[in-house]
Amino acid sequence: LSHKPTKLLNAALLFVLQIFINNEWHDAVSKKTFPSVNPATGEVICQVAEGDKADVDKAVKAAKAAFQLGSPWRRMDASHRGKLLNRLADLIERDRAYLAALETLDNGKPYSVAYLVDLDMVVKCLRYFAGWSDKFHGKTIPLDGDFFCYTRHEPVGVCGQIIPWNFPLLMQAWKLGPALATGNVVVMKVAEQTPLSALYVASLVKEAGFPPGVVNIIPGYGPTAGAAISSHMEVDKVAFTGSTEVGHLIQKAAAESNLKRVTLELGGKSPNIIMSDADMDWAVEQAHFALFFNQGQCCCAGSRTYVQEDIYHEFVERSVERAKSRVVGNPFDFKTEQGPQVDEEQFKKILGYISTGKREGAKLLCGGNPAADKGYFIQPTVFGDVQDNMTIAREEIFGPVMQILKFRTIEEVVERANDSKYGLAAAVFTKDLDKANYVSQALRAGTVWVNCYDVFGAQAPFGGYKASGNGRELGEYGLDAYLEVKNVTIKIPQKNS
Ligand SMILES: *[C@@H]1O[C@H](CO)[C@@H](O)[C@H](O)[C@H]1NC(C)=O
Ligand SMILES: *[C@@H]1O[C@H](CO)[C@@H](O)[C@H](O)[C@H]1NC(C)=O
Ligand SMILES: *[C@@H]1O[C@H](CO)[C@@H](O)[C@H](O)[C@H]1NC(C)=O
Repeated sequence: LSHKPTKLLNAALLFVLQIFINNEWHDAVSKKTFPSVNPATGEVICQVAEGDKADVDKAVKAAKAAFQLGSPWRRMDASHRGKLLNRLADLIERDRAYLAALETLDNGKPYSVAYLVDLDMVVKCLRYFAGWSDKFHGKTIPLDGDFFCYTRHEPVGVCGQIIPWNFPLLMQAWKLGPALATGNVVVMKVAEQTPLSALYVASLVKEAGFPPGVVNIIPGYGPTAGAAISSHMEVDKVAFTGSTEVGHLIQKAAAESNLKRVTLELGGKSPNIIMSDADMDWAVEQAHFALFFNQGQCCCAGSRTYVQEDIYHEFVERSVERAKSRVVGNPFDFKTEQGPQVDEEQFKKILGYISTGKREGAKLLCGGNPAADKGYFIQPTVFGDVQDNMTIAREEIFGPVMQILKFRTIEEVVERANDSKYGLAAAVFTKDLDKANYVSQALRAGTVWVNCYDVFGAQAPFGGYKASGNGRELGEYGLDAYLEVKNVTIKIPQKNS
């Protein structure tokens, strides 16, 4: 944290806020623009070109050309693709303070978190996938008869990628890393709430030396640009991170167009189970972190905190104390733990959930209101005595609102924890190995944390069971979504004629 972010921000908008296609900057075909807003003040930062179907068509055309057999990208050595990804990581590291400041300006997350957490993970993710570029191997297969049979793992082709606003840079890296390591070409739509950092990275993609057309980045809206990608006849695969509601639309659009491959990372309502033998200090702090991290805007937020009855009272009391001490304010202040929600729509939606919680009889223990006169700040909020059938225990709130529920036995809590359409993540806090093992096997969720929460690394897969999505990102598993398996079978002559 050696740089003063405010100084950097004076230079923040030196790059072009247009659409990035073929390593060049373009206005929208429609010439339309939309405002990007600073959620800490509600003020417009700048106007950004608004991509739509015509721009997606242009980008897909450029991507297809870059993917032609014999193109520089297709002929590039796999090791060189890795080198380019590493170069991109280097450039992001070079401009780390600037990118973190942009992220904070556009998204509202605390600068210290953007700099120390998001940017660190972005660079590590790109380097991790850079390493895979020349290491995803096929197999030789002992087919019956006189045949030599082998598999090649080939890129899928034009990959549509639609990324969310909660971790703009990190979600961009999660998507670009595996797609480029495996030799694909990309048409990415970035969220209309947070286009700035992703567009800056586009300029670094060019600087790193990726050939034109390999990465194309379109700021725009879901129902227009997003829909154009998911229903495009020449997009071979679509990867989406966002709401379950939109996930349905994307899968449907893929089915109704060209059956493009679909991977989805969607919503969650993740149970965080605190057994009575857990380390109390640690469990309280981790449950707080599990929910409140990133202003509560995490798909894997621990948003149903189940606490065993004999420690329930103390746990609730201490969780309320912790929430009350959470520092909310100017995201550029290094002491700030919580910035504003990303936009007015989210802000209103969260306040709506808080009033629903009160109306349905949950006990509001602290917070519940806006935390400032301007900007989209919400007080850290805790509900106790939450029942499983309440709206706030079933739907994803995506805000700084904690739900605490009481349970008696481990069998009961597993049943209740699983009783959700979602299955993204879960956690259990206990000192008893048997309980930890029982819960981590029983829960239907893509990630289970034991005595920790939100531990992420590029090396380990992440994704959902049930309506939380399909496919996995990160790790070796994360390559699968970007590869087709080709089986080549060759007749072997039995004598040399
Ligand atoms: C939850 O269930 C209880 C008991 O069946 C019922 O009294 C209550 O109205 C329900 N609450 C909601 C929000 O559906
Ligand atoms: C959750 O898991 C429990 C225990 O394995 C099982 O009894 C229950 O049917 C599951 N529920 C759901 C909704 O998956
Ligand atoms: C490859 O093709 C051969 C011949 O069609 C088939 O027997 C074999 O199962 C295939 N292998 C894989 C891995 O698909």
